[in-house]
Amino acid sequence: MAGLRRLDRADDPKQCLMPSTIEIPTALTVGETKLLQSIAAGKSVIEAGSLLGYSTVAMARRARQVHAIDPHDGYPAFAPRPTLDVFLRNIRRHGVTERVVPVVGSVLDVLPGLSADVCFLDLTGARELTQAALELALDACPVVAVHDYARGGCDGCTRVVDFEVRARGLRVTRVDTLVVVERSAKSGR
Ligand SMILES: C[S@@+](CC[C@H](N)C(=O)[O-])C[C@H]1O[C@@H](n2cnc3c(N)ncnc32)[C@H](O)[C@@H]1O
Repeated sequence: MAGLRRLDRADDPKQCLMPSTIEIPTALTVGETKLLQSIAAGKSVIEAGSLLGYSTVAMARRARQVHAIDPHDGYPAFAPRPTLDVFLRNIRRHGVTERVVPVVGSVLDVLPGLSADVCFLDLTGARELTQAALELALDACPVVAVHDYARGGCDGCTRVVDFEVRARGLRVTRVDTLVVVERSAKSGR
């Protein structure tokens, strides 16, 4: 992708609590967790796709506040069970309840009423959902992180991000399958 900047060891975000101290199942890598924590530090954050709370806890350890949006209506796909109770228990036992605002619902319904410094989309890589959510997120937040970029089976998500980056002239940082896009001085609002 044009304009893509990969973080290497030299500029890997520092001062992050070790992700291994978050005992919640997730597909996020250590590098992705550190990048999320670095963009969330001191900021207001909207997260779409909280699942069991791993990324919520990771960001809430550094952020001012995290609005955590998820319908919580079923996981895993082969044997779906509601996730809200486990999510709430996880944010409580990791000590971040005061900085997390749980929002049960779809990002498409909730995001239009919100704004924040940073938005994180982790929406299973689905194309249509990611596209609609990314458009809303770019209107609501100057910095947007999207998970599942260039992950096998998530081509739709990748194409959606590439399209918006080109169309809006966004600056991109990537670690593993996490991309962070933001307005550059050139792209404006
Ligand atoms: C890959 S998981 C998120 C993983 C999580 N961020 C972590 O740290 O491990 C995807 C989540 O997206 C949620 N989701 C699906 N459709 C959604 C929607 N319309 N709005 C918000 N979340 C949604 C699912 O319920 C699921 O919990």
